[in-house]
Amino acid sequence: MDERWRADLAQWGIPDAIAARAPADPWGHSPARFAERTDRALAEPEGPTLARIAEALPAGGSVLDVGAGTGAASLPLAGSMGELIAVDSSAGMLAELRSRADALGVPVRTVEGRWPDVAAETPAADVAVAAHVVYNVPDLAAFLTELSRHARRRVVLELTEHHPMSWLSPLWAHFHGLIRPERPTAHDVIAVAEALGHEVGHERRLAPLARFATLEELGESACRRLCLGQDRVAEVIAAVAELDMWPLPRDHWFTLWWESK
Ligand SMILES: C[S@@+](CC[C@H](N)C(=O)[O-])C[C@H]1O[C@@H](n2cnc3c(N)ncnc32)[C@H](O)[C@@H]1O
Repeated sequence: MDERWRADLAQWGIPDAIAARAPADPWGHSPARFAERTDRALAEPEGPTLARIAEALPAGGSVLDVGAGTGAASLPLAGSMGELIAVDSSAGMLAELRSRADALGVPVRTVEGRWPDVAAETPAADVAVAAHVVYNVPDLAAFLTELSRHARRRVVLELTEHHPMSWLSPLWAHFHGLIRPERPTAHDVIAVAEALGHEVGHERRLAPLARFATLEELGESACRRLCLGQDRVAEVIAAVAELDMWPLPRDHWFTLWWESK
């Protein structure tokens, strides 16, 4: 199961000849964009991921957020959380998270590094969450195993049904003649977790927000992801119109959860 996941994910690699010409990291995430997402989640906390964490969290309990970014999946629980342990490979993301946790008065411990490499130096918590991270993780079984070991009560995952770069597939074909894969999906994550012996609950829903508010925003993001210079935004927007891609259909998100054994 895990081998299949790894092989399917590897298909999403960008061919060297294209990646070599990329003016910016095509996989990069901007802390500013994620900070906006967190501020929105703080202003309007909602959704099954938050509900599944909240119902398993004892009063004043602790949450471990792996791939925490700026804290969108965990900081909305500020009022009921005794401690947040936030793990991320990006120092920039953790700095944004820390400033928000301080403002909310949530005691926070940050661990900078890749999960599960930093698992040994990370304390356990009542509930562990990893939101929008698993499609970055080739070794999914090891990632989930350490997550489960670090959760006293429950593990909660949030992820898109399909790979988060799937919206770009028609543009990859248009600009590079490259056909992108259709797997893995959230159903494969469920299969990997079940193969590890977990009884996995799941809920599917429409993403709370559109991926982009404007075509210009989409164009800028697409140029980066497609390894094109920002001077090609207008060309990308024209292709989006030609391919009838706008407005982008909303993603579906899955919340998965299982109890600790
Ligand atoms: C798409 S963002 C999601 C952030 C946040 N969880 C949210 O829902 O807004 C993915 C984050 O996971 C981090 N990340 C990816 N793989 C990781 C790993 N194996 N260990 C730790 N952090 C990871 C990235 O640096 C990034 O901040």
